[in-house]
Amino acid sequence: MPAFERHVFVCHNSRPAGAPRPSCTVDGKSDLHARLQQLAKEAGLGASIRINKSGCLDQCEHGPMMVVYPEGVWYGNVNAEDAKAIVTEHLAAGRPVERLRVADDCLNTKSCPHRG
Ligand code: FES
Repeated sequence: MPAFERHVFVCHNSRPAGAPRPSCTVDGKSDLHARLQQLAKEAGLGASIRINKSGCLDQCEHGPMMVVYPEGVWYGNVNAEDAKAIVTEHLAAGRPVERLRVADDCLNTKSCPHRG
């Protein structure tokens, strides 16, 4: 089997009510992962793209979160309706969906203005 061209991780983490940080899902379930897989299959990307559920990606204040490698493109506030643009524009055509990207300045920093 050839190597994957892209590997996608979709956060499915959930925390109890009142936790100090938000969660990407309420109950560990999300339509986003299933929708991405369905659209990737329909686009004929099945063998070249791997789409995994993941635990917390530590970018919780921007969730629901997902990340696409090898580019390392982080998408935030993503919902199932956004899946089509990510599959057709990024996974199939190689052009990241700019409107859904998390700003580089907001990744992996406690000084992000979105983080309390
Ligand atoms: S809970 Fe999804 S990034 Fe932390």
